[in-house]
Amino acid sequence: MASVELKSLRKSFGTHDIIKGVDLRIEHGEFVVFVGPSGCGKSTLLRLIAGLESATSGTLLIGEKPVNDLPPKDRGIAMVFQSYALFPHLTVYENVAFGLNLAGAPKAEVDQKVRQAAQILKMEHLLARKPKELSGGQRQRVAIGRAIVRNPEVFLFDEPLSNLDAALRVNTRAEIAKLHRDLGATMIYVTHDQVEAMTLADRIVVLEAGVVRQYGRPLELYHLPQNQFVAGFIGSPKMNFLPVRVADVDAQGLTVESVDLGGAHHIPVQPGSARIGDPMALGIRPEHIAPGAATASASSMAISGAVGLVERLGHETFVELTTASGQAVTALVGGNTLVEIGQAMSLRFAPDDCHLFAADGQACPRTRVPEIARLHLPLAA
Ligand SMILES: Nc1ncnc2c1ncn2[C@@H]1O[C@H](COP(=O)(O)OP(=O)(O)OP(=O)(O)O)[C@@H](O)[C@H]1O
Ligand SMILES: [Mg+2]
Repeated sequence: MASVELKSLRKSFGTHDIIKGVDLRIEHGEFVVFVGPSGCGKSTLLRLIAGLESATSGTLLIGEKPVNDLPPKDRGIAMVFQSYALFPHLTVYENVAFGLNLAGAPKAEVDQKVRQAAQILKMEHLLARKPKELSGGQRQRVAIGRAIVRNPEVFLFDEPLSNLDAALRVNTRAEIAKLHRDLGATMIYVTHDQVEAMTLADRIVVLEAGVVRQYGRPLELYHLPQNQFVAGFIGSPKMNFLPVRVADVDAQGLTVESVDLGGAHHIPVQPGSARIGDPMALGIRPEHIAPGAATASASSMAISGAVGLVERLGHETFVELTTASGQAVTALVGGNTLVEIGQAMSLRFAPDDCHLFAADGQACPRTRVPEIARLHLPLAA
């Protein structure tokens, strides 16, 4: 069994603290994705797990055993990089077999493993080719094949699909998901791609500057972000944030107001320690905003302004509005919505879809979330 556990893990390069005390437990067979802005330490964290970097302090356990002092080859891991790092003068077969041959494995065993990996990755017909005779997607499959034959307990992937074109990314993403189901191995995967993170992960780790900002199921992060950083990072286009002020506090939530919102609105959240007068950020996702003015009902609020940007994607359209106070708001509306740059427009949304963040960025937990978010919470929650 290969769980992976990080306890107060730190890494400094010289005087720069890069990983600032990370605690994480990844269960055996889990698919965990690391996301975060460029330079936040995703690759460094992966390289620490692989043993390509040594921790400054803290403990790393693989399969419940401390591995801080074990070299990479003894950790039961295999790593797949963005640059495939194939040997150009060797055939696909020889590339996949390389590590096994180096370890002195018997010829028959090497052959059986290489052919099995080729079968899993549907590249049996490519075994005699050299890397330069392969497409990017095929090269990436060879790199994954090289990892598979080592029969690792933990696979580490660092942006393995970022050199592929859009269509190939979709295919290879599905292949990696299938590989995970078939092999049942623990997988840790770094990506910049929101869709990869949301679709592949059992759980996602959101990192900011070497600190874990949230660790949870994809829909938990989407519906119940614990802070404004995660709220802004998960979801594309980004969540909108509007400055508001707390006008009233009661057991069911907070009433907030702003000039842009044209009055006070009750948002169903746990009020926590919020007080009247506190400045907050109201978060609303572009996909939860529709064209139209507010209705008289309490379940609708609206914002008006001038349209500054229209991006038509066919089935949907992004509209960016700028309010009288200069606040920009992006909405995702239907592809057939008639809207032009410069026109005045109202957009409405529901208090149930709103998030509230205190001045320190902490979320006031929402109390009415869609059933799907509850179904996707960890069993322990
Ligand atoms: N060997 C090194 N020496 C000094 N600094 C390093 C070293 N490796 C990484 N860093 C620094 O550590 C920080 C984190 O780098 P890392 O490669 O882990 O980021 P990342 O999250 O993978 O970013 P990206 O998304 O761009 O790949 C960066 O500021 C980087 O410059
Ligand atoms: Mg990286």
